[in-house]
Amino acid sequence: MSSRKPAYITTPIYYVNDRPHIGHAYTTTLCDVWARAMRLDGREVFFLTGTDEHGAKVEKSAKERGVTPQALADENSAEFRQVLALFGLTNDDFIRTTEARHESQVKLFVERLMKSGDIYLGEFEGWYDEGQEEYVTDTRAKELEYKSPISGRPLVRAKEHNYYFKLSAYQGKLEAFFAANPQFVRPSGRFNEVLGRMRDGLQDVPVTRTNFSWGIAMPGAPEHVIYVWIDALFNYATALGLGDSSSALAKERAKFWPPEYHVIGKEILWFHAVIWPAMLMALDLPMPKCVYAHSFWISNGQKMSKSLGNFIDLPTIQSYFDTYGLDAWRWYMTTQGPIGTQDADFSPKHFHEIYTANLVNTFANCASRTSSMMEKYFAGVMPAADTASMPISAVAGAPTWSVFANAAVAKTLKHYADFELAEAGDCALSIVRAVDAIINETQPFKLAKDPSKIDEVARILAACAEGVRVAAVLLSPIMPNKCAEVLAAYGCSIDGVGSITDAAHWGGLKAGTRVCKCAPFMRVDAPVIV
Ligand code: MSP
Repeated sequence: MSSRKPAYITTPIYYVNDRPHIGHAYTTTLCDVWARAMRLDGREVFFLTGTDEHGAKVEKSAKERGVTPQALADENSAEFRQVLALFGLTNDDFIRTTEARHESQVKLFVERLMKSGDIYLGEFEGWYDEGQEEYVTDTRAKELEYKSPISGRPLVRAKEHNYYFKLSAYQGKLEAFFAANPQFVRPSGRFNEVLGRMRDGLQDVPVTRTNFSWGIAMPGAPEHVIYVWIDALFNYATALGLGDSSSALAKERAKFWPPEYHVIGKEILWFHAVIWPAMLMALDLPMPKCVYAHSFWISNGQKMSKSLGNFIDLPTIQSYFDTYGLDAWRWYMTTQGPIGTQDADFSPKHFHEIYTANLVNTFANCASRTSSMMEKYFAGVMPAADTASMPISAVAGAPTWSVFANAAVAKTLKHYADFELAEAGDCALSIVRAVDAIINETQPFKLAKDPSKIDEVARILAACAEGVRVAAVLLSPIMPNKCAEVLAAYGCSIDGVGSITDAAHWGGLKAGTRVCKCAPFMRVDAPVIV
């Protein structure tokens, strides 16, 4: 194991009152690709996901269904876990906020914050809609002419005691931290949004509720329930046992803190970029390195919503698995998803085009052409040939294969580490494109007709086979199954490798290795219609 710092990556924990859909699968898949890449590079990784199970919404849904909130949480959390298996996701733990290990540590954290004065009992007064059991802001109350928009009954002036977190006290500290860490929130456009909102000034936030009971009881004041968001954010620390540093869990896992990436969707950025860091400051815990907020998948140009019924849900995703396979789905998620500040449109036609262009016509075509020619001209055995000093093309100034490929390896690894996952995929594919280009340029299938050219054919095919192998190593984090299949056909595997740089170093495919025919992605006639 390398001496580098262990790596920690997290997804949001998902609400159990929702069914899993493309959005949840997307964030978790991105984290999985990163986790696999870092493991392949010899780093010790902890990849966490889970479910967020408390709160008024879960309590309400359970009531409507006539079951207990815990039963609803158990059922839906199990569904989220099934998704992980279905998508080949390699999380190291799955945390549930109703687990005793989480609840007990949240209480410890909250007690610490009360002791330090960061959480205090305050009073809130406002306009209250009794029918809806909710407060409305002063402006909204005025607009409503002080009547409930639902029942028409007058709004009442109500007072409530709540516990508050002293967020306002962290304005200056957060500003200084943000200034010193320009990569703390990515992409940068999202960071600017946070900085803009910070200028309005931070207000203390309520951390308890009294109008429902499905949650963690406030220590010393059980009529108060800890607000679901505060409860949920702590999951990142409780999973490592940080609430009780003397625990066996902390002894084993505390080394993973702080997280390298909290990967989230754009709608929950404020909680992760402002409230959570302030809580960590109050607890004296080191800051996460980066909060990465991606944008949203939309469906055929429209926002996905319950009312439109256009969620890309599990049955729909299953139909893509059936037609194109899991790895094709992962490729599409990783390279075409809303990782930047723009939403991405999921369309069957676009999926089909990307599958055909990148996977069938590029990756599979090269792996298959190379292995078939190897079979035909060299009885499926890798010939001895010096490819390292051979230029990748006849064009003047073209780099040698070893220079070109080793540079692509270093670049791909950097992209993975920096969470530039689409760029990592593209960079790995650039090696396949170079293989394709040399086949088209030199036409080994024509040269092979002339027995005097057999050494030249051997050199070309040896370079092609090594190129395919290196690309398959680099693409493994995104397409683990298909790459393992290609690597096995090329007589190798990534099991037990010490680093990507070693595994993908030019020259790894030794003369004499058996190379078998393979065709990892088959042509599909028409897009999936669901
Ligand atoms: N429980 C909170 C998070 C607490 S984290 C301490 C929550 N849960 S959620 O079930 O609503 O999941 C939200 C997350 O799902 C988003 O942040 C994002 O990761 C993912 N997605 C949900 N819809 C999405 C899209 N349409 N597109 C991409 N991802 C989105 O919020």
